[in-house]
Formats: sequence, C-alpha cells, structure tokens
Amino acid sequence: LDNGVARTPPMGWNSWNTFGCNINETLIRQMTDAMVSSGMRDAGYQYVVVDDCWMNPNRDSAGNLQGDPSRFPSGMKALGDYIHARGLKFGIYQGPLDKTCAQYFNSYPGATGAQGHEAQDARQFAAWGVDYLKYDWCSPSGSIDDQVRVFAIMRDALAAAGRPIVYSINSNSVHSKTGPQRDWGDVANMWRTTEDITNTWNSGQTNGYPMGIQNIVDVTVPLAGRAKPGAFNDMDMLEVGRGGMTDTEMRSHFALWAVMASPLIAGNDLRSMNAATQTILKNANLIGISQDPLARQASQVSFDGTRRVLAKPLANGDVAVALFNQGSATTTVSTTAAAVGKSGSSFTLRDAWTDATSTSTGAISASVPAHGTVVYRVSGGGTTTPPPTPTTFRLRSESA
Ligand code: DGJ
Repeated sequence: LDNGVARTPPMGWNSWNTFGCNINETLIRQMTDAMVSSGMRDAGYQYVVVDDCWMNPNRDSAGNLQGDPSRFPSGMKALGDYIHARGLKFGIYQGPLDKTCAQYFNSYPGATGAQGHEAQDARQFAAWGVDYLKYDWCSPSGSIDDQVRVFAIMRDALAAAGRPIVYSINSNSVHSKTGPQRDWGDVANMWRTTEDITNTWNSGQTNGYPMGIQNIVDVTVPLAGRAKPGAFNDMDMLEVGRGGMTDTEMRSHFALWAVMASPLIAGNDLRSMNAATQTILKNANLIGISQDPLARQASQVSFDGTRRVLAKPLANGDVAVALFNQGSATTTVSTTAAAVGKSGSSFTLRDAWTDATSTSTGAISASVPAHGTVVYRVSGGGTTTPPPTPTTFRLRSESA
C-alpha cells in the first residue's frame, strides 16, 4: 500500500503470543521500557503493539471506542504518549466485523468491532497517536471479495484520518485462509499469509491452526513476488524466546523471517530474555538484510525437498543467500553465485551469524544442522538478472 509507511518490513513487539488477553497498561509500559533497556529499540524495533482485549466492551454514548477502564485506567492516549516519549511507536488492534477475535471466541466480553464505525474509529486512533493498526477478520462467513471490500473501507478511513498509520491485516482467522489467495498490496501494508503461528517447528499442516515455523515458510515462499516497499507478506509474530524450539530452530526462524522480508514483530516477554534470545533478535547482519531498502522477499533458487536455497537481492548489488536444511540430519547445502544472480569470479561471503568472511570463486556452500539456516551476504562481482520470482497464487476468478 502506497501510504508512505512501512517502506521496509515493520519491526516491533506485540502482546498476543505471550500474554493473550492478560494485558494492562502497566505491562505495556514495562514492555516499552524493556524495548529501550534491552537494546531492542536501538537494534531497530519500533512498534509497541497492543493486541486484542484492550477495549472497554461498550462504546461511549457518542459511539467512540474506549480503553478497558480497569486494565487501561489512564486511557489509550496516555499510553501512546508514554510509548512516544521513549522514542517508539504505538500500535493497536481492532477487527472489521462486529466483534474482535477474542469477542468472537467469548474469551473477552462485548462487540466493539469497527463495523459501521470505521471512519470514527480511524479518527479515534489518529487522535490517540496510533502509528500501526492490526485489523483482524474473525469469522467463517464472507467471501474473499467481501473481505477485500471491508478491509479497503478501513484503508480509506485511515487515509482520511490524516495520520500515517501502518495498516496490518489478517484475513485468515476462523476463515478459509484467504491470505495466500491474492496479492493484498493494494489493500494493506502487510497481510498475514497463514493462521496463527505457534512455538513449534512443524505443526503438520499448511492450511489450518496452529502453524509451525516450517509450515509458514512452505506457504509463503511461493508468494515472494508480492513484497515491495509498503507491502509485505506477514509470516506472523516471532516465536523466538518462547520455548518449544531448539536454539538452532529459533535462529532459523529469525533468519528466514528476515530474508523473506516478513515484518519482525517479537512476541516474547522482553523483560526476561536470555542471552541466546537477545543474540538472535538483535542480530545486526540479519536486521540489515531484513531492512534493506530494495525490500524484496527472497526467492527460491532451489529445493530438493530437504535443502532449500533462497536469495534476496539487496540495494547495493549484494545478495543475501539462505541455505536452509529442512531435514532431520546435518547436510551440506550448496548453490552458486551465478544461480543467485551474481556475475564474476571473486566474491566475499559474510556469515550473518558468525560475522566471519570468506572468499569464493563462485561456490556458496555450508554444512547446515537439521532445521538450521546459514545466511551469507554475498558481495563482489556484478549483478545479473535477479533470481526467478515464483508464480503467485491467484483466485480462479482473478486474471493474471
Ligand atoms: C487472531 C490473530 O491471528 C492473532 O494474532 C491475535 O490477534 C488474535 N486473533 C487476537 O484475538
């Protein structure tokens, strides 16, 4: 979406993965402080996103949204001010139908979705200083065309409200997983490609709930052609630092989200991160690749069912190459400079994890542990044609 924001994949933190509905202003303020004290802000994370369950279950007499008075007694404007005063940006959650997702599932009372209140809610968010809106469809009903129409209403309402606001949508909750079925770049800055992520490597499904890391990669790799400044495939919030995976798997998760230009929205408790988690989330080489101004998603160069090679062209002519081992034993994953769009015969490979550099005449190869991903930033030589962009899915009714 060409609204001036999210020119590179948004980075931040969101309350849902760790806290669900158990949120309040003290917690969000603590997380804001932790963003600063942990160095996450200085590493590039910007948005503090309050997910579902922040609302008063009733609108006020004028129909305005209000924060839940017991959880957010100071009000949402004050929370936004707190976040802004620390050099960060304020994100909030709403749904396009009559209920938010937690209201739909009856885990939170009320029916305060935006339906029929879109312009009013957009103006309210702008008045509170909101910089990022997560807008979450939660219903099995409605066709994809209904979803496009309804998501576009809030797109236009945000534009009319006059504040630059990142527009993040999810069309998949309790729905027929329409995320991959069209290119949503005309509607939003970022759109979820799957149902909710969980802190599991492989959940054994590509079109259900919940989704493991590997499964989200499987769904999102073919959608690479859609990513560009202002428009990104959202592979969902990060599960780094949430347990359930080995350190190798968590590193792989972060590396893949970075090369695939997914938003990097941490979902862990920032107040209690161990050293491994911090090292992963603050990896400057991978964040640099993620935030590269060309804003391309890595395309698939090769995949034999186990060894997957992805290449992300970068603005200065370098190429980030991910050597991903989806198998259950250590193996060598290989490609060549020519295959990832480089010409010439002398290259420098910088390993994103170790920061070590090596030289190559064209071979790009590493021994990669099970579920691991080695990322090299390849520089030198010239740039040939970018790696092939995989075909994107289209609805049968949509033309190419
Ligand atoms: C479904 C979304 O996919 C989650 O990320 C979260 O926002 C919940 N809804 C909140 O109810």
